[in-house]
Amino acid sequence: MTNDTTNDRTNSDGLDDTGRELRDALTRLPRTLPPRWLYDDRGSELFSAITGVPEYYQTEAERSILADHSAMIAELTEARTVIELGSGTSDKTRTLLDAFVAHGVIARFVPLDVSAATLHEAAEMLIERHPEIQVEPVVGDFTRHLQRLSDVPSPGERLVLFLGGTIGNFYVEERRAFLGALADVLAPGDWVLIGLDQVKPIDRLIAAYDDDQGLTEMFIRNALEHVNREYDGDLDVGNFAYVPFWDGRQHRIDMRLRASEPMSARLEGLDLDLELAAGEEIRVEISSKFSPSQIVEELAHVGFGADAQVFTDAADEFAVVLARRI
Ligand code: SAH
Ligand code: AVI
Repeated sequence: MTNDTTNDRTNSDGLDDTGRELRDALTRLPRTLPPRWLYDDRGSELFSAITGVPEYYQTEAERSILADHSAMIAELTEARTVIELGSGTSDKTRTLLDAFVAHGVIARFVPLDVSAATLHEAAEMLIERHPEIQVEPVVGDFTRHLQRLSDVPSPGERLVLFLGGTIGNFYVEERRAFLGALADVLAPGDWVLIGLDQVKPIDRLIAAYDDDQGLTEMFIRNALEHVNREYDGDLDVGNFAYVPFWDGRQHRIDMRLRASEPMSARLEGLDLDLELAAGEEIRVEISSKFSPSQIVEELAHVGFGADAQVFTDAADEFAVVLARRI
């Protein structure tokens, strides 16, 4: 594995894949943003803060599941290499790694994230905690760089972690592509451990994405500020209203920014002029909610065993699915 993302192609318009993807997302209707724009240093800090607000139940629910089942997961998978996609602070992962180290088989931990500062800070923490394993952080994009996992030299089985409910931030077709790509890079006998948030009463869901401290709103607004910083843009972020709602047909929280008045903006680095009418929206993020069986079925569809195990927290709000590549 390499430690950079600089091998993204530069296209004929002078933009790399990331820039082109963003320009397409902002110009195609409905306007959207790829999730990676939520996670510059500021966005990663805001996400960490969100995980501590009382309304955001997911992090503690997943932590409790990992605390209850980590030893069993280490014993069952016998993984020598643990890879974490969208690892962030790897905070909850400590519990898992402690169990793997106690089991004595793990040799290597490979966290991968687009947010370089958070990734390297997490890696330093883990190197200090577990000097007996090799920690190899990779700055990368899990929608583009999964092929790099094929380069990880790994005698013995691998376990890929995808925690936090991040699978819910994909659109359906992106989720299918991601799971398919994951299946393609794994060998029979390798494992995945995926965290997902479950469908639940609407009030509870809305509160988690419209918290009293306004941290989620700041997190969503920061994505546009990040785009402005990166591409020398003048989108007037203060002139948008934050609009989170539950889309019951698609089973997802939909987080939008709505233009309060007509707006013109220029993103110099993308060579893009945007004209927004009053009331026009940018869908900054979605967060899909599932039944665990849906994810088990989707995994089976791309080549994982249909006998996946499902672990839930005491309140049955979150779930973690463990499946094996066949
Ligand atoms: N797994 C952690 C963090 C979840 S937040 C937890 O459970 O708390 C989502 C993480 O995915 C962030 O760290 C973000 O930087 C990362 N991320 C988002 N889009 C990404 C992409 N396309 N490629 C790699 N990492 C990405
Ligand atoms: C990382 N991801 C699962 C979070 C979520 O709940 O969808 C990101 C987030 N967005 C707003 N709050 C938290």
